[in-house]
Amino acid sequence: MNAIETQSLTYQYPNTGKGTPAAIEGINLAAQPGQLLCIIGHTGSGKSTLVQHLNALLKPTGGAVFVDGKNIWQNKASIRQARFWVGLCFQYPEYQMFEETVEKDIAFGPKNMGLPGDEIRARVLRAAEYVGLPESCLPKSPFDLSGGEKRRAAIAGVMAMEPRALVLDEPTAGLDPAGKEQIQQLILRYRRETGRTVLLISHNMEEVARLADQILVMHQGRAALCGTAAEVFGRAAQLREMGLSVPVVTDIFERLRAAGLPVSAEIFTEEQAAAELARLKREGVRLP
Ligand SMILES: Nc1ncnc2c1ncn2[C@@H]1O[C@H](COP(=O)(O)OP(=O)(O)OP(=O)(O)O)[C@@H](O)[C@H]1O
Ligand SMILES: [Mg+2]
Repeated sequence: MNAIETQSLTYQYPNTGKGTPAAIEGINLAAQPGQLLCIIGHTGSGKSTLVQHLNALLKPTGGAVFVDGKNIWQNKASIRQARFWVGLCFQYPEYQMFEETVEKDIAFGPKNMGLPGDEIRARVLRAAEYVGLPESCLPKSPFDLSGGEKRRAAIAGVMAMEPRALVLDEPTAGLDPAGKEQIQQLILRYRRETGRTVLLISHNMEEVARLADQILVMHQGRAALCGTAAEVFGRAAQLREMGLSVPVVTDIFERLRAAGLPVSAEIFTEEQAAAELARLKREGVRLP
């Protein structure tokens, strides 16, 4: 059974004119338990609209959403369950931090779940530790944190709900390289240690190549492509037509291949690139 599945999911925002196309249309998405699914796509392609359906924030105007095999709109209980089972961290979540302390902000979700105070406190500490926020940050105002710290505090707030699936809408957007690296590391660790399903929206192809088991490409509200890194990044020309790119190393190796070098067509990460160059050296292949 899929952890998260959508069938022909369609959404038309209310009050949009008659001629306006649906924001998303006919999306069939399937994430298996423990999988990390990355969603990529040009700005306005429908990525945020899609993920806001997964925890019942938006109600489909067509099609259905299933979490652990259950249609989330079946009844009130299933809607409530979806809100707890699927933890969504919004795009630029720091704009939605409103509590006076970081601790209260992280505790907001678990509090809504009706958990007892000591359980909430334990979860806040665990989640803060997880995202690398020192305990000394907890009494601070969220506004006194750095951009990267705010982002990690917001992710901690979702993790503290201990959802079965974690959905992150562009968690590294706008952060400096060190901030991006910290968040990628915490996602890798979270997966390694919890084995839970993660959905991640990203514009950063290096990040996608590093983290994804599966990639869904959105284009003008539709799912244009879905597959492994090899299947998706192997279609560089099609991605470029959709205003997307491939990882820089993939592009470089594509050019080397075009120049006649016998290099692999499946190089998506720096690690793969380094290993391929080492192989060429071992085999005595001369670089042009
Ligand atoms: N509240 C809204 N009301 C009406 N239309 C909306 C609303 N939010 C988004 N849209 C439209 O729905 C479409 C999809 O938007 P969405 O925000 O899901 O795209 P996105 O892929 O997340 O983009 P980005 O990469 O910029 O975050 C766009 O055409 C957008 O203008
Ligand atoms: Mg978005």
